[in-house]
Amino acid sequence: MAIERTFSIIKPDATARNLTGAINALIEKAGLRIVAQKRIRMTRDQAETFYAVHKARPFFGELVDFMISGPVVVQVLEGEGAVLKHRDVMGATDPSKAADGTIRKLHAKSIGENSVHGSDAPETAAVEIAQFFSGNEIVG
Ligand code: TYD
Repeated sequence: MAIERTFSIIKPDATARNLTGAINALIEKAGLRIVAQKRIRMTRDQAETFYAVHKARPFFGELVDFMISGPVVVQVLEGEGAVLKHRDVMGATDPSKAADGTIRKLHAKSIGENSVHGSDAPETAAVEIAQFFSGNEIVG
């Protein structure tokens, strides 16, 4: 399988509970390398752009409010089949449906406050990475 990059966010519910290290440990244990990382506060504009695909969904307003409610850690992860590998370690969107041992099963509070984001395809990953990182911030 090819070496890929994916985009990850540790969301405000997780940074509020000081879970960055615990989540990073699970990411690294899954065989992914954190090749870029920064802690930021998203602006409303950034969050609306990032989740634009969900603009028509009933949860969009709450989702944007949540994503700007506290600091987030944005990351680029690298590894073989990184997109799927990261989706596996994240677990299902709804933590009550997430598999044992996944980040969301262990840490997420609800379907909305679900601790982490991960790109759903390599093409999406490229767009999401470019929204938050310049090339020289990614060190493979
Ligand atoms: P989605 O892309 O479906 O899930 P994932 O994050 O697993 O790729 O949804 C994006 C985010 O929108 C999700 O992480 C949390 C929020 N969301 C809700 O708040 N309620 C919902 O019913 C859904 C489907 C998502």
